[in-house]
Order: sequence, then structure tokens, then C-alpha cells
Amino acid sequence: MVHASDQDPSGACCKRAEYGAKETPADGHGRVARRALLRAGLAGAALPLIAGCAEPERAANKPGLSFNAGWLFGGAYQPRAELADFDDSAFTPVTVPHTAAHTPLSWRDWDPAAWQDVWIYRRHFDVSSLVSALRGQRVFARFDGVMVNATVVCNDQVMASHRGGYLPFSAELTDALRPGENVLAVVVDARCIAVPPVPAGSDPASIDFMQPAGIYRDVSVLVVPRAFISDLSATPADVLTARPRVDVRCTIDTARPVTGRATLLAELLDGEARPIASQILPLDISGSGLSSASLSLTGFGPARLWSPDSPALYTVRARLTVPGAGAHEATRRIGFRDAAFRPDGFYLNGQRLQLFGLDRHQMFPYAGMAMPARVQRRDAEILRNELNCNMVRCSHYPQSPHFLDACDELGLMVWEEAPGWGHVSPDVAWQDLVVENVRDMVTRDRSHPSVIIWGTRLNETRGYPALWAATREAARALDPSRPSAGAMHVHNPVEWAEDVFAFNDYSVTRQGAARLAPPVPGVPYLITESVGVMETRPPHFAWTDPPEMLARQADLHAQAHSAAGESTAYAGLLGWAGFDYHSLLGRPYSVKWAGVADGFRVPKPGAAIYQAQVDPKVRPVIIPVFFWGPGGSSAAGGASGASGAVLGDAMIASNCERLEIAVEGGPSMTALPSDAPRYRNLPYPPFFVTMPPASGDLVIAGYAGGRAVAELRMSADPAFDRLAIAADDEAIAADGSDATRVVFRAVDAYGNQRRYLTGEVTLALAGPGTLLGDNPFEFGAYGGLGAVWVRSLPGQPGVIAIAAEHPVLGQAAVQVRATA
Ligand code: GAL
Repeated sequence: MVHASDQDPSGACCKRAEYGAKETPADGHGRVARRALLRAGLAGAALPLIAGCAEPERAANKPGLSFNAGWLFGGAYQPRAELADFDDSAFTPVTVPHTAAHTPLSWRDWDPAAWQDVWIYRRHFDVSSLVSALRGQRVFARFDGVMVNATVVCNDQVMASHRGGYLPFSAELTDALRPGENVLAVVVDARCIAVPPVPAGSDPASIDFMQPAGIYRDVSVLVVPRAFISDLSATPADVLTARPRVDVRCTIDTARPVTGRATLLAELLDGEARPIASQILPLDISGSGLSSASLSLTGFGPARLWSPDSPALYTVRARLTVPGAGAHEATRRIGFRDAAFRPDGFYLNGQRLQLFGLDRHQMFPYAGMAMPARVQRRDAEILRNELNCNMVRCSHYPQSPHFLDACDELGLMVWEEAPGWGHVSPDVAWQDLVVENVRDMVTRDRSHPSVIIWGTRLNETRGYPALWAATREAARALDPSRPSAGAMHVHNPVEWAEDVFAFNDYSVTRQGAARLAPPVPGVPYLITESVGVMETRPPHFAWTDPPEMLARQADLHAQAHSAAGESTAYAGLLGWAGFDYHSLLGRPYSVKWAGVADGFRVPKPGAAIYQAQVDPKVRPVIIPVFFWGPGGSSAAGGASGASGAVLGDAMIASNCERLEIAVEGGPSMTALPSDAPRYRNLPYPPFFVTMPPASGDLVIAGYAGGRAVAELRMSADPAFDRLAIAADDEAIAADGSDATRVVFRAVDAYGNQRRYLTGEVTLALAGPGTLLGDNPFEFGAYGGLGAVWVRSLPGQPGVIAIAAEHPVLGQAAVQVRATA
């Protein structure tokens, strides 16, 4: 049935600009696929539609034409710098995602003074050749994320402003555009402003993560008819039955009253192309403003279900055709899955599934939060495919749309939460913004099958029941299908009012072993953080820490996950944290070394326990949680540990049934997985072995299903140590923002990480790219490895060669192609 012409009751998708009079579609709205433009006859002149626009972005849920290239960055704001006639000849050409800072960021010692300022970006663009094609169209600039507050000015008119760094907003440019050159200016206010997560009157150390400034996510331009689909929500229902359906609701934004009957065609596509269900609705759109239309797609079942092992995806496509005003198309990628938190755990598609995962901050050395799609997506790949997680918590804010797209594709379930950390400001405006953030988050991401729960209570906050009721209701109104939660640091059900009790559980025994508080009886219960680092004293879990401390991290994560298997009442556990991140509360170097992988995304010994939790048929894994050198193995955490049980002095994480371990020339010894109670609920508990002295190379053979499936060798002889270098990708796009990571490491003769604490690595780059990173890189300060990112230059394809040199370890080189 059609429910046309009623104002969108949620009010979520349109906001009035603070200083301008424009209404701006906020989230995930107004997508305009290239094909839709072609059909509407607008792009006959071939894209780019507006000079300087690149091809439409590839990401599945991304609308519009990329407007990432061609910006000018003017540094600190100067009076009049937002006005069209301002002389910007001294500005620096940049491509977004971009970090605004007075000095380039290193991997260490970030100082918020470097970015806490007001910044100016400008972009010139020309629409002269398209003026007639644009007649009757509406043009929006969409910003996926600007840190912290943004004011958008086009040809001297303020078109929109936005508060907060983690959610998208749009500025309608239509009325400001003129033939010839246009100037879009963005004033970015990145001072320590009282915008969630930062409370009023606080400094940057009030929260445990840094917030570098800039237009740090994508910018796109949308050209749409004067009546267009500004939001599409598509909710699968009855997914476990033979007759599933998809409930589709379109918000239609009409600039002027439309004469004649419009039609809405909605289709369900298997994957991205094959239509399997459709429905047409006639619509009466009488007034201007927002209206909505709803319908259901049926008759296609049963659907292939989405799950971590088989993340089947479908697409909903809606096409609005308005006589005399053209057509507009919007798409959303969806998945059919039934996700439910119950008192006896989490159920996916009717079956209990233990949640096993990590928390993620979106911070990167050198770049702040400004990394392109490829790098964002890679984090999801690491979590799912290397660390075997089935869930990630986006702590403590909505994260990159590219990351979420990858989670959909990889089957990585997501907890997403509104920006916050430990504080609530008492003032109404601040709290209103929290509610608005929840609305914008849910509107942006409710189609993602990977998202299974909303964090509507800000991380580790107490009190304010009215606020949490408002955020919960805001989420429920937009998405009744998902539960609400909020990570608590008090184990007190009286303060709790969400659907799932989520607890950050850092409990330890007196001996220092990880343990968990008992689940709150009778309610769904999830551990949202565990292990972490200790705040005031070691362990930090930095590469420079003693090896037994690094091993202890693996041990604690193993114990915590195992403890979460003690009762089905624990839906699962998310360890703190996936990756190291930058924080004024972190030591040393203002880094929080809580990651099981470091900020460069290199797995630390602490990650081994995650890497091993996979069926050996998929990937046999043998990872010694120690270094092997002339003195033998460095000690592991298991033995120094916790309960005092003698388990052997070296931990090996493996999914093999049995390991045969020998020092070259010596007898072989057999090791079996630990049967110690504190690992008993892990699918693949660690091994503990008392190692002989390192009289030669170490050889570990792994057996599964009765046969040898893997072998690992480690060298005791440092004479063969060398410098290794590797790039994640052979090729990147020559668009000025695409980048790939290049890791350099001190390794032994077989490629194992050496503990190496001296010397500098000097890097040289030749070809059309830039190095994002410290050069030279101090091995000693970091612990024998490091990384940089290689970024392309816009419109300059070619081979980028990176050479690295260490005074003792020698040279290594790698190449990356930048492709047109
Ligand atoms: C938690 C908090 C995390 C992090 C951690 C300490 O309480 O939620 O964001 O600060 O402590 O490492």
C-alpha cells in the first residue's frame, strides 16, 4: 500500500542547516547511480557530470560521483577564506580523505594541538557545459565524515553546517550554482568542542582516543531530479520461512509540487543484477517536502541466508519516475538473516552462535582517521580472515561506510554505537545531539545485514535514564528489527534499560588471570570489552615490551574467551582491542597498546590465539608465542601465569591435533593442546612446551586428521637475519587517495619476526606516489618492524618502487602499480 504525502514522522533524514536556510538530506539518501543518470538523460554528455568529478564510487551502498580529488587545503582558517573571490593560489592541492594538521603525524606522540584549530578547504568546479542538463535538477554535496564541525559555503552562501565527526551530512548547492566557475568552501572547526564524545568544558584527555581533524572521509556530489528518493530502507522479514519478504520504505523529497502521477518501482535483485521480485506503485505526490511510500516485495522465497560462513547478499532497487521531472533510482544492499539475543545466548538463523571478536578503533598511524576504502576494508578482512572473528564492535562511534560494506561481504557481524566515551554533558543541546547521532547512525546503516545491534547508550555512562529512553526509542522508531544496548562498566541491572546487557569486563583473579563476572540472570548478556591494558603500569603490550609480556596478552585473551564459554548465558566476548590506537591516556608514546594487532595492523604475539581459532581444513596454523634465538625461546605467559600450574615455558597457538617439536639434530617431542581448565572452552586451546636450549633451528610439524598439515621453522642463528618488505597490494588506483600498506620487518632466515631493537630503516620512493609515514623509521623505538602507506598521485599511473635499507639488516625493495 502507498502511504504517500505524510511528512516523514522520524524527522531523521532531513535537518535544517544551522546558518543556512537549506534543508539537507542527511544520511544514505539521494543516491544517484550512474545508470540512473544515463536513463534520465542527464549524463548523455558522459560523466563526469560536473567537471572534476570522477566515476561513481564502487562501494555498494555509496551514492553519487566522487568529489574526493581536486581540493585545495589552506591550513588554518583566515578571514574571508570561505568567499569565492579569496586568493587561494597559495593553498595546497589535496585529495580527501585528508588529515588537517600543522605538522605531519608520526606513528607516535600525537599532540592534539597539531589539529585543534579551524581549517579551510576549497574546491573549484565548473558547470558551464552542463547548465541546461542541470536545469530542473537538484545538486547536493555529500560529506561522509568531517571532524569535528563543518560549515559548507558555496559561492558565498552558507549551505549547511554539521556538528560531530562521525556521521554524514549533505549540503544542497542547487540555488547557489552559477554558470562558469563555482567555489565550494568547507570551514572545519576541530577545536576541542563540546560535541559528543567530548563533554562540555573538557580537554582531549577526557576521552581515551584522539580525534584528528579534517575532511577525513569521502565527498560525493549527487545530481537528482526535483523529486527524488532521499532515503530507502529495506527490511527483510520472515526470513526463516519459505515466504520471506522485504519491507521497503522510500522517503521522497520533493522540491516543488509534482503534477501528474508518479510511479515507484521496487525490485529485489539476487546479488547485484538478477531481479527476483518486483512491485510497482502509483503515487500521488501533491505537496513539496518529504513524503513516504511503503510496499513489500514477496514471492521469491526461500532466500539464501546471510551468515559469517556464507554472507549471501541481495540488492533492493527503487526507481521513482515523475512525469516531466525524470527518474531517480536508489539502491540498498541487504541480507536475509535472523539475529536474536536471548538469555541463553545469541542466535543466528535459529542456531546458537558464540560471538567471538574484538573491538575496533578506526585510527591509523600517520593518517589519523583518514584512510581510503581499500585500507578501511582491509581491517574487516584482517578481523574476519586472519583473526577469525565473527563479530566486531565499532568502538566508540559509527565507522567508515567502506568498513561496514566489507563486513557485509565477509560475514563479520557488527555492533555499532553512537559517539561517546564515559561522559554525558548535562546540557540539553549536547544530549539532543546524542539522540540525533543515534538517528543518523541508524538511518545510515540499517540496511547492513552485518549490523546486529545498536549501542544507544554511550559507552560506560551512568545515570540519565530519560536520555537512554530517548535514544532507544529513536533507534526503535527507525529500526524495530534490532536490539539496543550500551556497554556498561557497572554490573548493575538496576541502571540498565536496554535489550541486551553489555558489560566491559576487565576482571582478573588475584594471580592475574582473566575471569568474568557472572552473567546477569535471565537477560541477554554480552561481554563488550575484556583484557585491554592496565592504565598506570605495564603491561602495555608494545613490541618493545619483554616477550613474556607479549605472550601474556595472548594468554589473557585465551582465558577470557574460554571463560565466556563457561555458560551459554554469555552470548560471547569481544576483546579489547583489535588494533592499537592513539590516546593521551596511552603509554608509551601516547599509544594504547591494547591491540592484538598493532596500529600498522601487524598481528602481535597476542593475536596468535585468535589466528589459531579456525578449522585446520581451512588453514592449518602454528604460531609460536615466543621468539627463538641463540638463547632459546623467550618465556611465555602461560607458565609465568596465572594459576601456577606448570604447563611448560613456551606457548604455541595452533589448531593442529598434535605438534612434533625438534631442535635440529635433537630428539623430537610430542605436544598436545593444553587441557588446563582455563582454556577448555576454546575450540583450539594453546600448547605449552618446555623448550630445550636453542642449539639449532627449531622445527615444528603440525598434524591434523592423522597427517602432517603444516611445518614451521625458526632460526637460532642471527647471522641470517635480514630486512623483509611487503606491500598489501600489487596495484592501487591512481586517484590520489588510494593507498596500500608497506611493512618492513627484521626477520630470521625463514621469515619469522625477530625481536630487534636497534637501527633505523631508511626508505626511498621512486615513481608516481607519496610515502605516508616516518622516514627514517626508528626500529629501536618500535621493536623491529614498522610500516608506511604508499599513496597514489591523482591521474598519474605508473610503477611506484619502494626501497628500504637498514645498516645491519641490509636492503629490501617492493613495487606497487598505480593504475589509471
Ligand atoms: C574501557 C573503555 C575503552 C578503553 C578501555 C581501557 O573502559 O571503554 O574505550 O578506554 O577502558 O583500555
